[in-house]
Amino acid sequence: MSTHVAAPPSPGPFSDYRPLPDAVLAARIEEVRRRMGRRLVILGHHYQQDGVIAHADFQGDSYQLSRSAAERDDCEAIVFCGVHFMAETADILANRPAKVAARGGRRVTVVLPDMAAGCSMADMAAIHQVEDAWADLGTVIDTAEITPVTYINSAASLKAFCGRHGGIVCTSSNARAVLEWAFARGRRVLFFPDQHLGRNTARTMGIDLGEMCVWNPHDPELGGNTPAALRGARVILWQGHCSVHAMFRPEHVDSMRKNVPGVKILVHPECSMEVVDKADLVGSTSFILRQVEQAPPGTKWGIGTELHLVRRLGANHPGQEVHFLSPVVCMCATMYRIDLAHLCWSLEHLEAGSPVNVIRVDDETARFAVEALERMLAVK
Ligand code: 13P
Ligand code: SF4
Repeated sequence: MSTHVAAPPSPGPFSDYRPLPDAVLAARIEEVRRRMGRRLVILGHHYQQDGVIAHADFQGDSYQLSRSAAERDDCEAIVFCGVHFMAETADILANRPAKVAARGGRRVTVVLPDMAAGCSMADMAAIHQVEDAWADLGTVIDTAEITPVTYINSAASLKAFCGRHGGIVCTSSNARAVLEWAFARGRRVLFFPDQHLGRNTARTMGIDLGEMCVWNPHDPELGGNTPAALRGARVILWQGHCSVHAMFRPEHVDSMRKNVPGVKILVHPECSMEVVDKADLVGSTSFILRQVEQAPPGTKWGIGTELHLVRRLGANHPGQEVHFLSPVVCMCATMYRIDLAHLCWSLEHLEAGSPVNVIRVDDETARFAVEALERMLAVK
């Protein structure tokens, strides 16, 4: 039975959409996709809920999604089912000056269906804090020796900071290659905002914990470090973390190994070093997906990353045994804000020519942020 429901001639406020049943919202979303055709691209991060992912043209990890946005030449709009920093990155990459010029001055409109879909980790490093840290570091070490590296989970202003200072962006899937790039250029790295990704990656490169220190942006005394510790540091880690991945604990690994003999522990590098040390495999969301997709039937997994991805993996691979590593729910509440009601509302407004929640990075920030992003895209 068709659930066809026409879009309203002039779409109303979000409150009109909230009460609509999912089947109606899904049908209306598909109607917009059909009518807009190639003019519209919907991108979805792996952590999105199933109902939303069902409407995505392309699903991926942060790196794949930014590459996908960078390669869009023909669409008029990207609707990003992810979080704020991802939509900002899409705006910067899809609207690079050369791309806009090639389109005769036309920009791609980038929409985030719910503006409250932020990232608590990205919020742990504000540009004024990073600038203060840089100035403070300059009192004890030569900042010309430091390459700033920002995890893509950060505001555009931090990416611009890296662009201005010869630095680069990384994602969880290329962090090691990016750090190698950075160390080919300088003796030290300032890595923000995720201390865990920075520490876990540096350790895979043989960098000792004694050569790393943590910068607490709330400590006015050199981020809580002595001048000697900073002078001895090759990696200065920003004291930020992902509140979702912080919920996976080393004891969860122990109890899963005890309760599920033969289980393989597979975790995201945003987990703490103590969890990573006990895991069998560590990698980005796409890496996690690939491991399970490629494993023989009967493989047992204990997976430490966001709940929606893990549940979907289990459902898509019934021949394997997929367990969620934590006994408590670890879901990204901000990713979860993107639901069918917000997606339908933003799509119908977009189609009607009255777009809502447009993400537009200012030109000055974008100009420098794109330098750091292009360096990342060039790293193999
Ligand atoms: P990926 O780069 O693996 O997609 O991770 C993004 C993210 O936000 C993980 O918390
Ligand atoms: Fe940010 Fe963590 Fe959510 Fe990823 S899972 S978007 S790092 S809060």
